[in-house]
Amino acid sequence: MEEMRSMFSHPAVLFLWIQSSSGWMHPKCQIYDSSEDLGHFPTWTCSQLPHHAERYTAACQDVTAIEEDLLGLPPNINTLCISMTHGENRSMSLGFFSQFQDLESLYIIGCFTQILPTGNSHLPNLQHMYLIDKWGTGSGCCDCHIGPHTFIDLVKLCDLTIQGYRLTAMAPDVFHGIPQLQSLIISEPCVDDLSEILCRIMNIKALIELKIEAPEIQSINQSNCSILTTNESMTPVFNNLARVDFSFGEVTHIEEGSLAWLQNLTMLTGAFSQEVLLDLPLSGIKQIQDFRCSGISVIDIERICNVVFLLSIKKIYVNNFNTSSLSMSSVELCTGLEYMYLSVPLSFHPTTHLDWYFISSLKKLNELDIDFLRDKNPEICSFQKQPITWLTKLTLLINIQMLFAKQFICLVKLQYLDLTQNLISNIEDFAFLGLTNLESLDITSNNITQINANTFDGLHSLTWLDLRNNPLIHNIEAMSFTHLMSLRQVFLGQVHNPLTEPVIKLNLTLIFGGILSQLTHLYISSVWHLSFTLLCTNVNHYLGFVLTILVKSF
Ligand SMILES: *[C@@H]1O[C@H](CO)[C@@H](O)[C@H](O)[C@H]1NC(C)=O
Ligand SMILES: *[C@@H]1O[C@H](CO)[C@@H](O)[C@H](O)[C@H]1NC(C)=O
Ligand SMILES: *[C@@H]1O[C@H](CO)[C@@H](O)[C@H](O)[C@H]1NC(C)=O
Ligand SMILES: *[C@@H]1O[C@H](CO)[C@@H](O)[C@H](O)[C@H]1NC(C)=O
Ligand SMILES: *[C@@H]1O[C@H](CO)[C@@H](O)[C@H](O)[C@H]1NC(C)=O
Ligand SMILES: *[C@@H]1O[C@H](CO)[C@@H](O)[C@H](O)[C@H]1NC(C)=O
Ligand SMILES: *[C@@H]1O[C@H](CO)[C@@H](O)[C@H](O)[C@H]1NC(C)=O
Ligand SMILES: *[C@@H]1O[C@H](CO)[C@@H](O)[C@H](O)[C@H]1NC(C)=O
Repeated sequence: MEEMRSMFSHPAVLFLWIQSSSGWMHPKCQIYDSSEDLGHFPTWTCSQLPHHAERYTAACQDVTAIEEDLLGLPPNINTLCISMTHGENRSMSLGFFSQFQDLESLYIIGCFTQILPTGNSHLPNLQHMYLIDKWGTGSGCCDCHIGPHTFIDLVKLCDLTIQGYRLTAMAPDVFHGIPQLQSLIISEPCVDDLSEILCRIMNIKALIELKIEAPEIQSINQSNCSILTTNESMTPVFNNLARVDFSFGEVTHIEEGSLAWLQNLTMLTGAFSQEVLLDLPLSGIKQIQDFRCSGISVIDIERICNVVFLLSIKKIYVNNFNTSSLSMSSVELCTGLEYMYLSVPLSFHPTTHLDWYFISSLKKLNELDIDFLRDKNPEICSFQKQPITWLTKLTLLINIQMLFAKQFICLVKLQYLDLTQNLISNIEDFAFLGLTNLESLDITSNNITQINANTFDGLHSLTWLDLRNNPLIHNIEAMSFTHLMSLRQVFLGQVHNPLTEPVIKLNLTLIFGGILSQLTHLYISSVWHLSFTLLCTNVNHYLGFVLTILVKSF
């Protein structure tokens, strides 16, 4: 430290400062004024971290020794982002950073043998701190010793993220005494015992947001922290927790009462088997808003809905459900759901025909997303006795091959329909009839070759139509879009020329008619990538215009 301070007043360092005032120069760091566009931020890892609106940012990379490599930084920086290489055998002292009295955010990507507290110096303005072992690689386990009360002098610290640091290398009271800590993220803590985490955070009373991502945790057991065991009562420990996300690995065991200290979970993610799922309501959890379940064995939808009911779940993502168990009666207990995502791993060989009648039971469902199943001809409305007035957003990625007339006619309130990446090659006339509220239709990446005058009949509210990555353009019938009164943005597929014609003529007036003048975006692209792209914002002046597309001939 002392050596560092004297270095700071050294003429050479001073020179560096002066030079830097007209664009900072530093061997390892780049310095930005955040009034500049952050788009100029370097494209390495620091730019991917969350940003707070501070004025001066220093981003330093290839740092081996913080105290030497950061010499010459201006003292008034607000954000410091450090990416270490080969710093593993060094210790880091938070005291070093006290020379930056305005420091508000500190991001460090790297591993140290230990982290020392600020000592007698202070970091009066530090609010956000991130310690990340390795960026993006996951499964780092940095054995960094962090002693008791290391962060106690960070009086303004409100947001702390620790990723890839082995928690057991830290003192049990490592987080104690941080007065204002409101948001804590512990990711990949390299422990398989939830107690190791809980016992370290139980005293952070100000906590509002807690996120734990611990893929090694398979067993959710009763915690033996003293704060929980001396008081057998089931009351929650935190008073202000508003958001709690837990993400575990494959959960094989849930002990009764193990989560009673918590009561409400915002999000729970993990791989669950059917048997373990039954134990979840016994964990003491009262409510989960968003439940994300995956796994290697299939779960009947009744079992999932039973949990949905008991825990008042609003959103579910299920990656391992038994597709043949889906029916109107099996989802009865799921009536509280507002969002449902269903998918299966490809190895599951799902059934080829879903019982779409299940939608009629889910009267609060706004959004349904079904992926990676196989129902090439989904009969969504064929057996519905009444209109589905609750669904506003539908995404289907289920190998649909063709759309038949009135296929969606019961979905009277639907606003968004996403049919991206199916195998649709044919759309019958009047396929979208009844979708009078539909605003956005995305049929990109299918195999549509033909658009007819009645293909989009009934889509009075459609403002956005996306047909990119379809080989269709030379087969658009006259008047195909003329009746889409609300249309504003159109993305057509690729220009495909019959090999006999070197030139494609597209009479935009003929296919768009009077609505051409109201379009704000018209996008047409060529199958020969980059050889032709037309993107017009405000297409007014194309009125009465024949678009001639010269296609490279072989
Ligand atoms: C760290 O120390 C260990 C043991 O002393 C040594 O084997 C290793 O090479 C050192 N790593 C670096 C990056 O210096
Ligand atoms: C949790 O409890 C189970 C069953 O009692 C036990 O087998 C397992 O070792 C415990 N796990 C941990 C991390 O303590
Ligand atoms: C909790 O249990 C674990 C192992 O089961 C043990 O290592 C730890 O010391 C215990 N903690 C307390 C506070 O009793
Ligand atoms: C146990 O909890 C009750 C209320 O929940 C509280 O009044 C009591 O002081 C607690 N006891 C201990 C030892 O913490
Ligand atoms: C859990 O959430 C429900 C509804 O959101 C709320 O009424 C209840 O007070 C919450 N309980 C706790 C302990 O936060
Ligand atoms: C899937 O559900 C069907 C119908 O409920 C049932 O007959 C079948 O045994 C289930 N399959 C598995 C693997 O659980
Ligand atoms: C797309 O359609 C063409 C012509 O109908 C057909 O030859 C081709 O196999 C289709 N591609 C896919 C992926 O279905
Ligand atoms: C384009 O179509 C419109 C509407 O049918 C027609 O009036 C116009 O003559 C056509 N333009 C050309 C150049 O063919």
